[in-house]
Amino acid sequence: MKTIVLMGFMGAGKTTIGKELAKAINCEFVDTDVYIEKEQEKKISDIFAEDGEEVFRDMETTLLKRLQDKDEIFVLSLGGGIPVRKENRTLLQNLGTIVYLKASKEEIIRRVSKDVNRPLLQGGDLERKIANLMDAREQIYKDIAHLEVSTDGKTPEQLVKEIQNIL
Ligand code: S3P
Repeated sequence: MKTIVLMGFMGAGKTTIGKELAKAINCEFVDTDVYIEKEQEKKISDIFAEDGEEVFRDMETTLLKRLQDKDEIFVLSLGGGIPVRKENRTLLQNLGTIVYLKASKEEIIRRVSKDVNRPLLQGGDLERKIANLMDAREQIYKDIAHLEVSTDGKTPEQLVKEIQNIL
């Protein structure tokens, strides 16, 4: 089995499902946002506000490079913007199987509407922002995904089983 990379839009459930999946197959779990926040001792929103988005994107790429050297398999949940950089897409493909967790726009809006730690969604018209970002990213996600799993209306347990069955 190869490393399993969970990719998808903000609010698709990557962190929740990744944690459960790693437990189910008894391997390490890495979440890029959690890793970066710990390493920097700063919240993502503060990194964006104080250092800027490019600095955050460089942190993501640095982490992906570091993960290339890991010997054991692991489950990796990605920040939703990681696949946008071409360099990152190559790094992700080297890591293992990329699973696209696909959620509808309505479900995403419902899940992220109260969130204050996602800087790209703060201020202005939330629905418009989500629609624009989803439009810009959908094809990128599809291009590098090995598998697509629809998450709407499913529990994390159901999704973990579904992913395990198709791996
Ligand atoms: C981002 C997604 C976030 C986080 C940052 C930027 C994005 O992660 O990395 O706010 O560009 O889509 P989640 O996808 O875990 O929310």
